[in-house]
Amino acid sequence: MLRTHTCGELRLTDSGKKITLAGWVQRNREMGGLTFIDLRDRYGITQLVFNMEINPDLCREARELGREFVIRATGKVAERSNKNPKIPTGDIEILVEKLEVLNPSQTPPFTIEDHTDGGEELRMKYRYLDLRRNENKKNLLLRHKMAIEARNYLASKEFIEIETPYLIKSTPEGARDFVVPSRMNEGQFYALPQSPQTFKQLLMVAGYDRYYQIVRCFRDEDLRADRQPEFTQIDCEMSFVDQEDVLNTFEELAKHLFKSVLNIDTQAFPRISYEEAMKIYGSDKPDIRFGMTFVELNHLMKDKGFQVFDQAELVVGINVEGCGEYTRKQLDELTDFVRRPQVGATGLVYIKYNPDGTIKSSVDKFYTPEDLKPVLDLFEAKPGDLILILAGGTDKTRSALGDLRLDMGKRLNLIAPGVFKPLWVVDFPLLEWDEETQRFYAKHHPFTAPKPEDIPQLMFGDAKKVRANAYDLVINGVEIGGGSIRIHDKGLQQLMFQKLGFTDEEAASQFGFLMNAFEYGAPPHGGIAFGFDRWVTIFGGGDSIRDFIAFPKNNAGRDVMIDSPSAISDEQKKELGIKVR
Ligand code: AMO
Repeated sequence: MLRTHTCGELRLTDSGKKITLAGWVQRNREMGGLTFIDLRDRYGITQLVFNMEINPDLCREARELGREFVIRATGKVAERSNKNPKIPTGDIEILVEKLEVLNPSQTPPFTIEDHTDGGEELRMKYRYLDLRRNENKKNLLLRHKMAIEARNYLASKEFIEIETPYLIKSTPEGARDFVVPSRMNEGQFYALPQSPQTFKQLLMVAGYDRYYQIVRCFRDEDLRADRQPEFTQIDCEMSFVDQEDVLNTFEELAKHLFKSVLNIDTQAFPRISYEEAMKIYGSDKPDIRFGMTFVELNHLMKDKGFQVFDQAELVVGINVEGCGEYTRKQLDELTDFVRRPQVGATGLVYIKYNPDGTIKSSVDKFYTPEDLKPVLDLFEAKPGDLILILAGGTDKTRSALGDLRLDMGKRLNLIAPGVFKPLWVVDFPLLEWDEETQRFYAKHHPFTAPKPEDIPQLMFGDAKKVRANAYDLVINGVEIGGGSIRIHDKGLQQLMFQKLGFTDEEAASQFGFLMNAFEYGAPPHGGIAFGFDRWVTIFGGGDSIRDFIAFPKNNAGRDVMIDSPSAISDEQKKELGIKVR
């Protein structure tokens, strides 16, 4: 080894030892006849000292060292006269006797400090320098720790990690595929997996009854703070289980991670049905760190002559406690918020429960205080509270009020930092109707099993009402994972494909391998996949999964460091059978 210790290791008890350190020059400063260098590596920072009086040549050499030079220094550990309590090595310094430049460095384009002067684009371009910063180091270490702990837990429960292929077959369901042209099979393409879903099910047929994999997945979809085109799942599957077994097993995994990584003890995770979540939070990933749940008002507010409400499918509101004195300007701001295209409401109705007990609303023309009092009572409102109401089509209105609720939660600082509120959302609908294409899509994926009691409804009744044995793990309003009990019966799988509008031929050509496998003794099975990047981000208290991925893509799906995607040569195209324009 080129060093005896790391830069985060030495303490007062090492005083007098002769040691060698190697690392990067973080800072270089002169004070009288002394030169101080902060030497940094992955483990920390140690102060090196050079004394002009003792060794002028060495001291002059040290003064020449620029930021980010890679050096090696040998010397004695000594107690520091002015200690730095902010760093673990702050009690000591190294009186350097020998110095070696292992590699010089250009001046970095931004400072490698906690508060850097580099903008995001620049830091992404020089990501290898950005990764030297503490924050990124901390994030990657957290990621590493969570991966180890997840593996420890799963291995202790007899799960085995099995790799599945990355070059697979394109299927039309789900998000768009990334495809890879095949040189040996001209005109044909592999697809990169959106998830190892079908392979993990085949592993169940093969008898590997507890599988997991920390695995990269690829989806060509529009990017957001919580989405990357390539991301990592902790993907799991089990045989001979029902939904209860899966939820319990993975609740234990989640609890293990909370405890081993954050030292947080968690209670049993609450469970809420999809229907209830939509009804009281307007979201299938509710943030339950604060209340402000929805109250439906159709029976109190319709048929009083106010057209907007009379024509609405749903009138629903929230009680924003203590905001009864909001000004006109503040209320206008909220109206603007709900009218934004992303939120999509047409307007906002308010009822102020004044501190003096009087009632003032934006619809006073249509409702007397006697009409409004029962509304306030339904909310259990107190004087000084503010009721905000939206109306319209059920789904859109719920979703818009869900956005408003989250916005109010943030505005009013109702979300305490460092609090984690996990919950399971269960009983998702099996199918989702798409108006545009006039067909059903699988809400989760086509292999998800309906609830057994809802199968007659699927066969003969209203397919929209069929519930699935599907579940999501949500933490602090973020969908961390999702899974389901799978269909293991060929007949039921065929019925599902029919409902999704697949002809027998289409189903056979796309999923024939799975349906065939099901004829050879498929055990009952189910599983879940966690978005690992999202989970790490939540644990790390971050806003964007990009900050917890070593080499992420930007919002346009580009890696600006390696400049990808990029054009390929005509020769390469020809070889791949791609037409050269
Ligand atoms: P699903 O599609 O719900 O399920 O994905 C599982 C979890 O992966 C995360 N996730 C993402 N994270 C970052 N960037 C993305 N683009 C992205 N897309 C999804 C989410 C999500 O909850 N095969 C099924 C699982 C199963 O049924 O077992 C699946 O992939 O946190």
